[in-house]
Amino acid sequence: MEENQVISMPRIGDKAPEFKAVTTQGPINFPSDYSGNWIILFSHPADFTPVCTSEFMTFATMENQFAEANCKLVGLSVDGLYSHIAWLRTIKEKIEYKGMKNVEVKFPLIEDITMEVARKYGMIQPGESNTKAVRAVFFIDPKGVIRAVIYYPLSMGRNFAELYRALIAMQTADAFSVATPADWQPGDDVIVPTAGSCGVAKERMENIEEMHCYDWFFCTKKLDKEKVLKTVLKR
Ligand code: BEZ
Repeated sequence: MEENQVISMPRIGDKAPEFKAVTTQGPINFPSDYSGNWIILFSHPADFTPVCTSEFMTFATMENQFAEANCKLVGLSVDGLYSHIAWLRTIKEKIEYKGMKNVEVKFPLIEDITMEVARKYGMIQPGESNTKAVRAVFFIDPKGVIRAVIYYPLSMGRNFAELYRALIAMQTADAFSVATPADWQPGDDVIVPTAGSCGVAKERMENIEEMHCYDWFFCTKKLDKEKVLKTVLKR
C-alpha cells in the first residue's frame, strides 16, 4: 500500500458500503441480499492459519444461534476462492478442536484477492499488516446501517460469546428503547433514558416504583429475560 494513502474506515451510523463479491456460497450483492436481517461481516487474516481455524470452527458451530437472532454471518479474507474451498474442506474433514469436529462452514466466505472490499471497510491496517486483513467485525442492522465495529489484532482470536451478547444487546436497545449497562446479559436490569428536563429528573427521584435510581441521571428497570428472548429471537 502506498505511503500516506487515505484508508476509509466506515463508522458507526454510516450506511454499510456496497459491493459485489464472489463467495464460497456463490456471488453476493452486499448488503442488499441481506436486507431485513442483521449481518455480521467479519474479516480474518488468512486461510490455513491456526487462530482463524479456531475462529471459523467456533462461528460455524454458533451459526444457528445467530440465525435465530435474525443475523447472517459473512466472512472475508484476501485469499482466493480455491484456497477458501480447500481450507473449509480441511476443517470439515480433518480438524477436531475443543470437541468440535466435522464442522461445515455454511456461511459465505468472500474472496478478496484484490483487497477491494477489505480496503473499503478499513480492514487493511498497515501498522499491523500490509498484506493481511486484521480481525474486523462489523454489525450491520436490517436497514443496512453499521451499528458497531470491533477490531482485533492478528494474534488474538475473537470472543464469540461477546459478539452474540453485543448483537442481543443492540436488538434489545432497539426493541425496548433502553440502554444496557456494563456486562449486561438478558435478564439483567436495563438503563432507562436519562431524564431530559429538571421536571423529569425530579419525578424520577420521587416516583421510583418501577425503577431503581442510583441518582437522577442513572436509573434502571427490570426487563424479564423471557420477554427479551421472545422479542429478539425467532421462536
Ligand atoms: C492465525 O490465524 O493463526 C494467524 C494469522 C495471521 C497472523 C498470525 C496468526
